[in-house]
Amino acid sequence: MTSVIEVCPLSELPPGRVRIVEHAGIEVGIFNCNGELFAIEDRCSHDDGPLAEGVIDAGACTVECPRHGAIFDLRTGRPKTLPAYEPVETFTVTVDEEMIKLEVD
Ligand code: FES
Repeated sequence: MTSVIEVCPLSELPPGRVRIVEHAGIEVGIFNCNGELFAIEDRCSHDDGPLAEGVIDAGACTVECPRHGAIFDLRTGRPKTLPAYEPVETFTVTVDEEMIKLEVD
């Protein structure tokens, strides 16, 4: 069953920033890429690195894993560079009356 979690007001997540939320033992990073919001699991598919703590390129809409440097596309969850080669899970993000909401299974 899908749950909807309130993340934070839109005004608290400006472009180039990330907010991490935890739900049922899973951590999810919600990113603002120049006004578009995307969410991926905060766990690198290579070696469980804390992806949402990596460097964000809001223009390219990517994040660089702080552990070994793989770059992930925030729109798709797919890695663009090695050493990661498996995608990470993505989640649906919506905005309802200026509140960011995350859909998780
Ligand atoms: S843990 Fe992310 S690149 Fe290795």
